[in-house]
Amino acid sequence: MADARPFHWEYEPPKVVRERYLVTGGRALEGTVRVSGAKNAALKMLAAATLTGERCRLTNVPEIEDVRAMTETLRDLGVVVDHPEPNVYEISAGDVDWLFVPLEAAAKMRASFMLLGPLLARFGEVIISNPGGDRIGRRPVDLHVDAMRALGAEIEYRYGYYYAKAPGRLRGTEVRFPFVTVMGTENAMLAATLADGHTIIRPAAQEPEIDDLITFLQKMGATVERTYADTIEVHGKKRLRGAEHHVMPDRIEAGTFAIAAGVTGGHVVLEGADCDTMNAFVEVLGKTGMGVSCGPGRMEVDAREVGPGALHPVDVETGAYPGLATDIQPPTSVLLTQARGRSRIRETIFEDRLEWLSELRKMGASIQLKSPHEAWIDGPSQLKAASVEISDLRAGASLILAALAADGTSSIGGAHHVQRGYENIERKFLDLGARIERVQEGELTATT
Ligand code: UD1
Repeated sequence: MADARPFHWEYEPPKVVRERYLVTGGRALEGTVRVSGAKNAALKMLAAATLTGERCRLTNVPEIEDVRAMTETLRDLGVVVDHPEPNVYEISAGDVDWLFVPLEAAAKMRASFMLLGPLLARFGEVIISNPGGDRIGRRPVDLHVDAMRALGAEIEYRYGYYYAKAPGRLRGTEVRFPFVTVMGTENAMLAATLADGHTIIRPAAQEPEIDDLITFLQKMGATVERTYADTIEVHGKKRLRGAEHHVMPDRIEAGTFAIAAGVTGGHVVLEGADCDTMNAFVEVLGKTGMGVSCGPGRMEVDAREVGPGALHPVDVETGAYPGLATDIQPPTSVLLTQARGRSRIRETIFEDRLEWLSELRKMGASIQLKSPHEAWIDGPSQLKAASVEISDLRAGASLILAALAADGTSSIGGAHHVQRGYENIERKFLDLGARIERVQEGELTATT
């Protein structure tokens, strides 16, 4: 095993450039936005590319900080990652000489843990740090580890690191999760593609990004299939081959821009959006009274008639797919501040994902936190500019949305959280007529 000395006291937290968004609200957003590739699909495909020594080519990869962090982690392992043009990445994992995923990588991004399954399955060993990611409650990885153990791996946990070994090959088995986990399903599935024999994973998460990953794996020669809605079956192969894949569109990004139309009384066309993967969300938009129309690779959202302040309140509850995505819950909460009456939000996936609402309250929203999992929003509220801080990726996008609907110029700190997952977010908002800029902390002027 690699001679790693993974001691936390040698660890220096990653340095981030402190930047803020300055957003002046009050303009209805109008125009067309091109939806980028899905973060939650692209990151797993970058990890999956290590299952083969042959070159894989991914197109429509979003240019976001998480992708940068994942490719940097791969390069540190000895994987060759080329970036011949924007949104295109070519990965060759022929030589992987350092089977160690350090805390530096894991602290930036929880998805670094997606390297556990493929590296273990292909190379028989890996040392990988316990991951970080968004600060939205306790986010353990016990189910990933249990799945690897079920597949025959030996895993010890020491000093914040998992030391994983698979003597011989991993063995196909039944992986039973106590409840649905997205990355747990994906890690088990990636590991099983190179295991000896047949693996059944259930309940398997049903997120569309997993099906996009399955398509990529099939192109790599894997025998993997969703046999029932909640079941994925894999027949392990000795080796996989290189493949090319176009990453599916990001439904959370699409949803964020749809809400931008809603909170500003605007009209936005989402080019490349796939409504079929967003049914629960489209239903919520419809219930608010906004106009939503879907076509192939396109979604159009019109709030000019109903307008902010006159939307209908809606009770929403997040859930595993096909339920309402927890990642679109924070933006939806902003939308519901503009509804006439009381909306109830129930968050069932993550603890603490309602905590950021205290920042939204600073902007004038009327919100009661009934429990860590339930909030009541009484609208409509005329939001007003404020100085607020971003705590995680989706809360960040949501504070921008709130600022777009607010009177005056808001100053939103912690822009790096948003850069993790949204490609060119300022450019896209500017193209819709928004007034937004990103400035370094030191550049802040009297306008804030
Ligand atoms: C993924 C997504 C994230 C999304 C989430 C739920 C990526 C990179 N991230 O995260 O954007 O919000 O799905 O749709 O794809 N859990 C455990 N033990 C585990 C794993 C999970 O207890 O080993 C719990 C979590 O704390 C959470 C629940 O299971 O309460 C579901 O989490 P999970 O589906 O695993 O989310 P992620 O895959 O981490």
